[in-house]
Amino acid sequence: MNEAKYIVSQELTEASEHRALVLMHARALVDAEPTFLANCANLSSLIFHSLRDVNWCGFYFVHRDALVLGPFQGKPACTRITIGRGVCGTAAKERRTVLVDDVLAFPGHIACDADSRSELVIPLMSKDTLLGVFDLDSPVPARFRQYEQELLEEVVRVLVEGSDLTL
Ligand code: SME
Repeated sequence: MNEAKYIVSQELTEASEHRALVLMHARALVDAEPTFLANCANLSSLIFHSLRDVNWCGFYFVHRDALVLGPFQGKPACTRITIGRGVCGTAAKERRTVLVDDVLAFPGHIACDADSRSELVIPLMSKDTLLGVFDLDSPVPARFRQYEQELLEEVVRVLVEGSDLTL
């Protein structure tokens, strides 16, 4: 194996070990507690402390035509985002993950933390119902890649499928 291939393969091994570890912690937290809100709080902390270069990470929940701030880690953030506005509102409206390499180039981006340069937002879906979004910000441009997207989508699945949404 030449040097470049070895480095790529080492990175892949580290990524898959990291992914397995984060998912194991996420499942352990959710298995230990049914309450959806408590699990959101712990998962925002787990992810904030498990990924490099993340300056904000947390949840917004659907309330009528808006997303309202839930548990998070990072600086105080905007409390209410109209569905359809900003990166979070776009992910909620279109019910799809939105990955933004350069938030300054995203029309309507809402700058809660002036340090943020890239963003990843994952919708929380329970069957066909939109519950909210999970939002991550980074001060590094193009910080989030497919690896983070897949990992976070899996964490959100663990959260929604493993929690009692009525608690
Ligand atoms: N940047 C987001 C707003 C939420 S904060 O980043 C915490 C947006 O454009 O929707």
